[in-house]
Amino acid sequence: MGLAAGKKGLILGVANEFSIAWAIAKKLHDEGAELGFTHLPGDKMERRVRKIAEPLGAKLITPCDVQSEDDVARVFAAAGATFGSLDFVVHSIAFGPREDIQKPFVESSREGFKTAMDVSVYSLALVSRHAAAYMPAGGSIVTLTYFGGERVVPGYNLMGVCKAALDAAVKYLAYDLGPRKIRVNAVSAGPVKTLAASAVGDFDKLAGLYEMSAPMDRNIEREEVGTAGLFLLTELSSGITGEILHVDCGYNVMGSPGRAIEKVKALFLAKARALDPGLADKLRDDDEIKRL
Ligand SMILES: NC(=O)c1ccc[n+]([C@@H]2O[C@H](COP(=O)([O-])OP(=O)(O)OC[C@H]3O[C@@H](n4cnc5c(N)ncnc54)[C@H](O)[C@@H]3O)[C@@H](O)[C@H]2O)c1
Repeated sequence: MGLAAGKKGLILGVANEFSIAWAIAKKLHDEGAELGFTHLPGDKMERRVRKIAEPLGAKLITPCDVQSEDDVARVFAAAGATFGSLDFVVHSIAFGPREDIQKPFVESSREGFKTAMDVSVYSLALVSRHAAAYMPAGGSIVTLTYFGGERVVPGYNLMGVCKAALDAAVKYLAYDLGPRKIRVNAVSAGPVKTLAASAVGDFDKLAGLYEMSAPMDRNIEREEVGTAGLFLLTELSSGITGEILHVDCGYNVMGSPGRAIEKVKALFLAKARALDPGLADKLRDDDEIKRL
């Protein structure tokens, strides 16, 4: 029997097959869960989600803009009518105006800040409130966060401030909903190429940094976020709530660039050797490079 057999849940945040929410949905489906999906309003969004969710036997596919209280209430009422009750909800949603995200945080506009906080943070409280009404026997809610809310990650800017607030929201919601046996956790994923990630400056450089510095000498695969989501949404994690689970090949534990310095030095010398073997030898003897 699958780990999620008999479980029913709603997935918010699939835009296409590259979405992190989709990686989690696939794992849940493989383990026997029945799923409902929301998509941003609009024919194009609906077509994209239907194309991938229908083959999974989705029981519900409906539009939802989390900036609309009515939309969220309607979606959960529809989920209640479809499933009776819910066991889990995936909240995999973030948005901020591109022009604000791509500026240093100090330059963020008030409107951009409000929109980003509304969609990326407040929505978790709103969704959890409505979800809880359909979880009479308890349940599990998972959101997606990023390390840029714990430490400064240049390029992440306003979204980092949103993720810091989201991490705090996870903890307060875990406290509020704990007596109702509803757990609230976050997966903090390493860089994954998605639509949302394209708004983050220097995304490729960021992913490269993980390969250079993470203890596991690589970046994550999106399926690994899917598996972590499955873990937090099933009984496997029954004693865990308010947790920020890092799926980042250990990047977050590093206090220095670690092996990245040696790797950059080796790359640099290899390039120099390709250009001029004599130059590479001179560089290897250079005191400053030796010190590195
Ligand atoms: N991609 C990464 O590297 C990465 C790393 C860590 C955390 N995350 C987080 O994962 C989550 C999912 O992002 P993704 O990378 O899969 O990208 P994605 O673009 O596939 O997903 C973002 C989703 O947010 C939805 N959304 C935006 N505004 C909305 C609104 N007003 N109402 C309802 N839905 C709305 C979009 O429709 C989309 O489905 C986000 O919270 C993101 O910050 C991503």
